[in-house]
Amino acid sequence: MHDGVSAATYHERTKHVPDQQWDRPDPENRPRDHKRYVDVPAQALGDRIQSTPVATLAALGGDPPAPDDPASKTDVDLEALTQRCYYAAGVLQEVDRGDSRFHFRAASCTGALYHVDLYPVVGDDGPVPAGVYHFDPLTCSLDVLRKGDYRGVLAAASGDHERVADAPVTFVTTSTWWRNAWKYTERTFRHAFWDSGTVLANLLSVATALEIPASVVLGFADDQVANLLGVETAEEAPLELVPVGAGSPIGTESRPDVDPLDYETEPLSPNPNSFPLIHEAYQGGSLPDGGAARAWRDDPVSAPLSAGRDERDSGGERILLDPVGAGRGSKAPLPVAIRRRRSCREYSEAPLNFRKFSTILDRAVRHQPLDCLAGDAPLLLNDCYLAVNAVEGLEPGRYQYHPTDGELELLQAGDCRDDVTRLALDQDWGGDAAVAVYFMTDVDGVVERLGERGYRAAQLEASLIGGRLYLACYAHRDVAGLGLTFFDDMVTDFFSPRAAGQTPTFHYVFGTPDSA
Ligand SMILES: Cc1cc2nc3c(=O)[nH]c(=O)nc-3n(C[C@H](O)[C@H](O)[C@H](O)COP(=O)(O)O)c2cc1C
Repeated sequence: MHDGVSAATYHERTKHVPDQQWDRPDPENRPRDHKRYVDVPAQALGDRIQSTPVATLAALGGDPPAPDDPASKTDVDLEALTQRCYYAAGVLQEVDRGDSRFHFRAASCTGALYHVDLYPVVGDDGPVPAGVYHFDPLTCSLDVLRKGDYRGVLAAASGDHERVADAPVTFVTTSTWWRNAWKYTERTFRHAFWDSGTVLANLLSVATALEIPASVVLGFADDQVANLLGVETAEEAPLELVPVGAGSPIGTESRPDVDPLDYETEPLSPNPNSFPLIHEAYQGGSLPDGGAARAWRDDPVSAPLSAGRDERDSGGERILLDPVGAGRGSKAPLPVAIRRRRSCREYSEAPLNFRKFSTILDRAVRHQPLDCLAGDAPLLLNDCYLAVNAVEGLEPGRYQYHPTDGELELLQAGDCRDDVTRLALDQDWGGDAAVAVYFMTDVDGVVERLGERGYRAAQLEASLIGGRLYLACYAHRDVAGLGLTFFDDMVTDFFSPRAAGQTPTFHYVFGTPDSA
């Protein structure tokens, strides 16, 4: 069915293990952190960034409205498009270090390498003339790649997904492998879903704040979407479609021909290198056409794949969380949380307030609007484990979080600081933080249920929630955190027997910053 490697093989081959030999990336060969077309026309976005006053906790507490929700605003105006691009992938801070200039973006990204790009595909009823665009984060404007309404191509590629076929704007995300693989080599295929997840967490939260429908479509014919954008999947590959807004049906007859694009782009670095395993993993989960995409999402997952796992070993003490109710707690608007979000590597020993801790977990760990998931269960493809070191009133130890019940289950008591640091590749700030959160999945179980493409879904469910953890933390002035990488099998061992057969997908730590 495909030429690629299986998800299980890819995952196994890209595990971090102790005593691994690391090649230091060559600083002279560091890739540029954004895509720059040499000579394409620009389309201006709004000339100032409007900021929604909606509180971060409220945006995280709600779902993006459904298109038929009477409260939803179905059209996307220029202001909404500009906010989306800026708060998902815009440059919020520029810092000079030595000879290099770093462009820190709205969403966290492994190594600050920013390999994820946004391409808005806009129809005739959209906020800018119909066309296929690339968002340029440095100028906060759009590169015009095609003029005309090409949404029918996305609709066909997605097997006529009803949201894609009705949205005035659909964003396509991509990863340019080398821009991340320079440092992370083959592991970049995982990072593509981690780092697009944090971008999409921002994008979906802004959608909820603006009351505009939005969701994530993972089922699409990869090559058809790549052709529309003019990218080669061996180098840059589409990851997700995000239809935004509604009420702009395109009709099945509007399927324009897609001529090849041949725009020159600035070289990424002096000697871009290739890591074939990344593309093989991508191909392993690729879908050939719209019919396959429709079939893929035909039977969405609605019950947690790990149901029954906690009956395998004796249930530990259960602790009910105590999150603030709707409309209570921090009032920090979403743009404020996004602007002050910067990964924190220095923590004080001050314990976290139990209520804030509860609120952060409660607001972040929610059902994600993915096409292959149904119902409203908060975690369908992953389970959530915690190593707690400093939360008021909570015994230090290893826990599982049961989001449907709003409860923690104590798996094993005991201080975990040294373990968390060790699991995080000996990065001290892991164990310095008050809490470490690990999302874990059963790759074989996911593939059995959702096919090879399910691996992307499992990574993405975790990273969307990881991005929301960032937002929920930074809604509070005195809480900070960061994503961390990990020794895969050591994490499994640490939470076993409960986590036996599962493998980590996303890791995030948080606590009281030293500056608070
Ligand atoms: C999935 C993920 C994993 C990360 N892993 C690490 C890590 O292992 N160590 C670390 O210091 N930072 C890690 N980071 C943080 C990034 O380095 C950071 O987001 C990036 O440098 C941009 O800075 P900012 O988050 O302050 O905007 C990770 C971020 C993400 C999203």
